[in-house]
Amino acid sequence: MSAREVFLTLLVSLVVYGVIVRVCEADDGLRKNFYKNSCPKAEQLVRNITWSKAQSDDKLGAKLLRMHYHDCFVRGCDASLLLDTVGTNQSEKDARPNLTLLGFEVIDDIKTQVEKLCPNIVSCADILALAARDSVSFPFKQDKWDVLTGRRDGKISLASDVTGNLPSPFSDFNTLRQIFANKNLNVNDLVVLSGAHTLGVAHCGAFSRRLFNFTGKGDTDPSLNATYAETLKKQCPNPANPSTTVEMDPQSSLSFDNHYFTILKQKMGLFQSDAALLTDRNSAKIAIQLQSKPNSDNFFSEFGKSMKKMGAIGVLTGNVGEIRKNCRQVN
Ligand code: HEM
Ligand SMILES: *[C@@H]1O[C@H](CO)[C@@H](O)[C@H](O)[C@H]1NC(C)=O
Ligand SMILES: *[C@@H]1O[C@H](CO)[C@@H](O)[C@H](O)[C@H]1NC(C)=O
Ligand SMILES: *[C@@H]1O[C@H](CO)[C@@H](O)[C@H](O)[C@H]1NC(C)=O
Ligand SMILES: *[C@@H]1O[C@H](CO)[C@@H](O)[C@H](O)[C@H]1NC(C)=O
Ligand SMILES: *[C@@H]1O[C@H](CO)[C@@H](O)[C@H](O)[C@H]1NC(C)=O
Repeated sequence: MSAREVFLTLLVSLVVYGVIVRVCEADDGLRKNFYKNSCPKAEQLVRNITWSKAQSDDKLGAKLLRMHYHDCFVRGCDASLLLDTVGTNQSEKDARPNLTLLGFEVIDDIKTQVEKLCPNIVSCADILALAARDSVSFPFKQDKWDVLTGRRDGKISLASDVTGNLPSPFSDFNTLRQIFANKNLNVNDLVVLSGAHTLGVAHCGAFSRRLFNFTGKGDTDPSLNATYAETLKKQCPNPANPSTTVEMDPQSSLSFDNHYFTILKQKMGLFQSDAALLTDRNSAKIAIQLQSKPNSDNFFSEFGKSMKKMGAIGVLTGNVGEIRKNCRQVN
């Protein structure tokens, strides 16, 4: 080869290489299989442990999916939610809207075993993102969405950051849209991700106002299915018992599917924030489309796309942040 040919070959290789790297690596620095070289078995180990935990706890998917969402919406997906309060500095998990997050000890167990395999390599933020996916996926025995990795752990967790970043169950459509927009999530993401309420339960306090005192006159929220409201009143008598819970997707709260959109259409969305999705024309159209398909495949693919965006909110990558040794405390 002449010098010119060598030069051209090199140039072409560089351009091709650059394109490949760009395609594989999102702008935020997350990548597919980030630990491929540094800890090749990490993702498999997280999946194995999560699946064995999910086998003995059929509610684990709901717990970890919600935990990942709460982490991402407050200070980005940096595992700040996992930090325990130190001294007088109340951490995120002790903020009022935590409304009983569960599953922290599962993340601790996974982290302990991952540290044995590869010390100081795998972040708590990635473990949470993977375990959320794996716990929801367990019944299907295959990943229900892709998780990019390469997140690092934050060093700050403040209860005061929770307000304004997490929508409340009393939010109206504009509030929801605004909070999601602040996270670079659009109305499609809002509707699709609300489909996570196909899993899990809620405490009566999150919706009992809709049953007994909607406008302060002892009335019921007219946007709630009247038959369903009567059922809920029996399950959650006034005043609300703080330990009583009800399924958000009745009789289907353990199956990850598009059934949330079926009950939503029947005016059985449990929170005002669920019902609010029907108050905007565009949002209602998206919700109807998600339930109109014969199976959940369309919902699954949409959910995967929106989870990828949610999982990238405010991530710390490169040299920022740290790889925590213990998910509950900074190094
Ligand atoms: C759109 C705004 C949202 C609001 C206002 C909201 C609010 C709530 C509330 C109040 C609960 C019940 C908590 C309790 O009483 O114990 C809950 C549960 C839950 N949320 Fe959301 N949420 C929203 C979006 C999301 C998103 C985006 C996800 C995940 C992608 C999610 C996943 C869950 C899950 C899985 C549960 C059940 C947890 C369990 O059973 O352990 N939520 N949500
Ligand atoms: C995960 O489980 C599979 C199947 O039991 C096993 O073959 C594999 O070695 C496990 N991997 C790790 C990293 O634990
Ligand atoms: C949630 O917040 C309450 C009140 O601030 C606190 O007592 C409780 O320990 C918190 N729950 C969790 C799981 O951290
Ligand atoms: C405690 O709070 C202060 C300011 O409110 C903050 O600068 C500091 O990083 C916090 N510490 C932790 C461990 O989050
Ligand atoms: C209903 O709401 C009104 C106004 O907020 C309040 O004054 C009243 O005590 C509530 N009644 C009940 C039974 O909770
Ligand atoms: C209320 O829910 C029932 C099922 O529980 C359904 O048959 C009915 O169509 C719903 N009503 C409205 C107005 O959506």
